[in-house]
Amino acid sequence: MRSHYCGELRESHISEDVSICGWVHRRRDHGGVIFLDVRDREGIVQVVFDPDTVAAFALADQVRNEFVLNIKGRVRARDEAVINPKMTTGQIEVLGKELEILNRAETPPFQLDEYSEAGEDVRLRYRFIDLRRPEMQERIRLRSRVNHFVRNFLDEQGFIDIETPILTKATPEGARDYLVPSRTHAGEFFALPQSPQLFKQMLMVSGFDLYYQIARCFRDEDLRADRQPEFTQIDIETTFLNEEEIMSMAEDMIRTLFTEMIEVDLEEFPVITYSDAMALYGSDRPDLRFELPFVEVADLMKEVEFKVFSAPAHDPDSRVVALRLEDGERLSRKMIDDYTKFVGIYGAKGLAYIKVNDIDAGIEGLQSPILKFLPDDVVSAIMDRVKAKNGDVIFFGADKADVVNDAMGALRCKLAEDLDMYEKEWSALWVTEFPMFENDGNGWSALHHPFTQPLGDIDEMLENPGNTLSRAYDMVINGHELGGGSIRINQLHMQEKIFEVLNLSENESRSKFGFLLDALKYGAPPHGGIAFGMDRLIMLLSGSNAIRDVIAFPKTQTAACLLTSAPSEIDEPQLRDLHISVNKPSVSKTEK
Ligand code: AMO
Ligand code: AMP
Repeated sequence: MRSHYCGELRESHISEDVSICGWVHRRRDHGGVIFLDVRDREGIVQVVFDPDTVAAFALADQVRNEFVLNIKGRVRARDEAVINPKMTTGQIEVLGKELEILNRAETPPFQLDEYSEAGEDVRLRYRFIDLRRPEMQERIRLRSRVNHFVRNFLDEQGFIDIETPILTKATPEGARDYLVPSRTHAGEFFALPQSPQLFKQMLMVSGFDLYYQIARCFRDEDLRADRQPEFTQIDIETTFLNEEEIMSMAEDMIRTLFTEMIEVDLEEFPVITYSDAMALYGSDRPDLRFELPFVEVADLMKEVEFKVFSAPAHDPDSRVVALRLEDGERLSRKMIDDYTKFVGIYGAKGLAYIKVNDIDAGIEGLQSPILKFLPDDVVSAIMDRVKAKNGDVIFFGADKADVVNDAMGALRCKLAEDLDMYEKEWSALWVTEFPMFENDGNGWSALHHPFTQPLGDIDEMLENPGNTLSRAYDMVINGHELGGGSIRINQLHMQEKIFEVLNLSENESRSKFGFLLDALKYGAPPHGGIAFGMDRLIMLLSGSNAIRDVIAFPKTQTAACLLTSAPSEIDEPQLRDLHISVNKPSVSKTEK
């Protein structure tokens, strides 16, 4: 039926008879001549129908947007005046001779060119139309190319692609599980994997040495622009390699990928420890396309009467930090008020600031609502510490460390975005030496996952879990955690101790992870690995703002599929088969 894709026609095809198939992108009637822009996956070509091709002209007159057509015609050069340099096919057009309507289309819920006026809900409900947009097609095709690249790269390095189960047992990656009821085992459930973590470790115990999988993972967690309940990992595990070797291999893969896919050289990745990242940027995934580091000023605030600063300055769980923004004159009073509201989202109770009008004029040269609360010598020590210059605005955050980190870390990124402070387009780095455990108030939990090898010896760890670091590493690009991994525990004794710190009884650890504990008894080699978020990778490569835009059929912020209306209720007999009775909350779901 088809001789060429619409989008591949060029001047070299002039005078050729062609048969194209595609969708009507736009139809224009120009005083007796009908123009159809016909679209397929390779692009759009203009087709012209003259009234003298009577039958084709009559049909062309009937077609509407998104009708599916087969058109036979001849490629010809466009008149000089109507050459469209913006279109790859803009030098030519097809003179239509025959037209067959292969299918009709109702008026689409939104025009492809005007998609941004349709709400995202409409676009997700009619995803099959949204995916017709060239940008969407390009992203999904980029995804396919990345997939092939990764497979080739890893295949060449001797990695073996192994599938692991989807119906499985819970793996703790910090989110809630998606559960699947078993019909054959009444009252029992499978969990969908949050990652293939334990299976890939088993494969190392089995001696496969190098494993990879493009693996689907499922996590029931709060969603954000870079999180979906169902997402894809490039999952990797290796045997007998240390962290430097694994990081070097992973970095090589990502750097080569960026060069091949988008011709970007990421340069060698700097390595920064977790504690430096938190101290300087308030984040374990700092965006280093710009500097704007935190400056610690707690020690200077200890004696001031202003409680907002002095109280946190005395509390070891709190921080007082300053952010020096150059050329702060750019900020109006209104903008500063808006930033104060912005940090409020992250729990900050305010955003103190000092404007530096004339640094040589001492206190007189400064402007701020908090100057009256601070002794002059403290103010001048702060100015020295932050290396204040004329025109700067110095922001202050004082609170519990996590509030300051979240609020001032977010402010740092927001200022860079609003004021276009990026010094480079790409920043890729490694973050290492993560804490092994975190305490959420209910005891210790693993920061990465409980199979990560701690740094240092067991006794110190048992004595002071909070100070224990781990052999975990994250790859961060432009402020996104692209990948994370670690060297794993391969000694039974160590794994048991970790479960002890996590307050898992022997019974619990046996029932949850008995198979792992068994595997560690039978010659488990040293091993470690990493997993990359494929969706985040494509988001970064394609310059999209959300991973929803790089997944063909994504879910909404509330973890629903608007296209298929999943999740949905199931009927009584099926529930009975699964031994399930539903206990619905009385408040009905407002949004799906
Ligand atoms: P982690 O939990 O850090 O590690 O996940 C690895 C990478 O997967 C991506 N990712 C997500 N992408 C989209 N939506 C989500 N909800 C989501 N959650 C995670 C991120 C992240 O860096 N088993 C370990 C890996 C290992 O230790 O080898 C793991 O899953 O890009
Ligand atoms: P107040 O005494 O609450 O009026 O605050 C005086 C100044 O300090 C205002 O500019 C507030 O925005 C700021 N401020 C209040 N609480 C904090 C805080 N926790 N961190 C930083 N600045 C704050």
